[in-house]
Amino acid sequence: MGKGIETGARAMFNSKFAAIATTVGSAVGLGNIWRFPYEAGVHGGGAFIFCYLVFSFLIGVPCLVAEFAMGRSTRKNVLGAYQYLSSSKRQPWYIAGYFALLGAVLILGFYSVVAGWTIEYMTGSVESMFSGGLDEAELEEQFINLTNGWRPLVWTTIFCLCNYLILVRGVTKGIEKMSNILMPVLFLLLLIFLINSTMMDGFMDGVKFMFNPDFSAITPSVMLGALGQAFFSLSLGVGCMITYASYFSENTRLTRTAVTTMLLDSSVAILSGLIIFPAVFTYGMSAEAGPTLVFEVLPTIFSRMAGGTIWSLLFFTLLFVASVTSTVSISEIIIAYLTENRKMSRVKATTVCCAITYVLAIVCTLSLGPGKNLTIAGMSIFDLFDYIASNILMPLGGMICSFFVGWVMDKKLLRQQLSEGSRHNIWVTPLVFMLKYICPTAIFLIFLDSTGII
Ligand code: TRP
Repeated sequence: MGKGIETGARAMFNSKFAAIATTVGSAVGLGNIWRFPYEAGVHGGGAFIFCYLVFSFLIGVPCLVAEFAMGRSTRKNVLGAYQYLSSSKRQPWYIAGYFALLGAVLILGFYSVVAGWTIEYMTGSVESMFSGGLDEAELEEQFINLTNGWRPLVWTTIFCLCNYLILVRGVTKGIEKMSNILMPVLFLLLLIFLINSTMMDGFMDGVKFMFNPDFSAITPSVMLGALGQAFFSLSLGVGCMITYASYFSENTRLTRTAVTTMLLDSSVAILSGLIIFPAVFTYGMSAEAGPTLVFEVLPTIFSRMAGGTIWSLLFFTLLFVASVTSTVSISEIIIAYLTENRKMSRVKATTVCCAITYVLAIVCTLSLGPGKNLTIAGMSIFDLFDYIASNILMPLGGMICSFFVGWVMDKKLLRQQLSEGSRHNIWVTPLVFMLKYICPTAIFLIFLDSTGII
């Protein structure tokens, strides 16, 4: 067995724990801490969070298992996996692979921008910019200044460089170790901030906002947003988990890994909400601020905490790490494709992937600053990339993947993938049922509903 070394044979994660840690490392990132609270805020809180949790469990877990099964059974990248598993069928399933690659590229573009902001805030913490008791208006202005001009380009560049340096070394070397240690630390830090937030006046208002859903507020766009968020947060729909699972060893249990990933991922998102929303209500801020929400609210919290500078430095550093473990996993989709299907060397593939990412990241960065006036369908390019990837390509990618695994993939191979380790895995039948009937239909209906077609 390959011992996690990328020489000759394909790389493999060193242990079951590493498989889970890297999968969780991919799932937990800006999606949980930045995107979840702002999406929840924009979509009215409780109703959105309710849908998000239901979708994560009922659709997310089966789709995770489906991607795992495709990846581990073929040990190929997303395109290769579709090609291999449908090779006897003469059907063009591989097209789904190309859409997955496109989705991955778009996500990398805007994700690197936000990841750049985390570096800005790291350095900002050191300069003590958040500890001077600035009021909300000042902090908001500060954020606008920080993200608007040419300056964020510097941070995005640094981020892309870090991403590159880790990726050239290969998946199992840099990433495994980092995920194993730093993810638990991030979790701990969030718990500390949660304690801090329970002491705020607005704590109960925040909790009510999150957990007291107004079911009449569940509209098609709330459902699509929640589905998109569940997919984004679980790294689903663009073949990320197919690629990572291709590095799983035979004794990694797919169902258990999927459930663990979902539980940890949702917990981090909920924790993040429990930190953000009480502060929003305590300090009279707006929950509907959009993508800037977390970057305005968190500094407000830190500037009022004892030792705020240290906390904020620690937090943004860990958020940066969480972002890297996620972008690395997205980049790996493309790199695995380039090395396997296009026969490039690892270094060349990484260079190509990171160069494309960098160009798109520059476009996204500038679309929020100097190029603000250029909008398409009322959205900046930054928002457009996010919308196309999260609300169109990822749900449809998930739909096709679950349909493919349920109906097209060889049944014996699928059952063998799902039941290894325990002979009587009682989850196999319900999972296959979900993949065949429920997931594709549900995703399709939510999607059509939101486009107004039905
Ligand atoms: N899930 C990650 C987050 O929450 C982002 C991410 C990593 C991702 N890999 C992905 C999103 C693949 C979509 C597809 O931050």
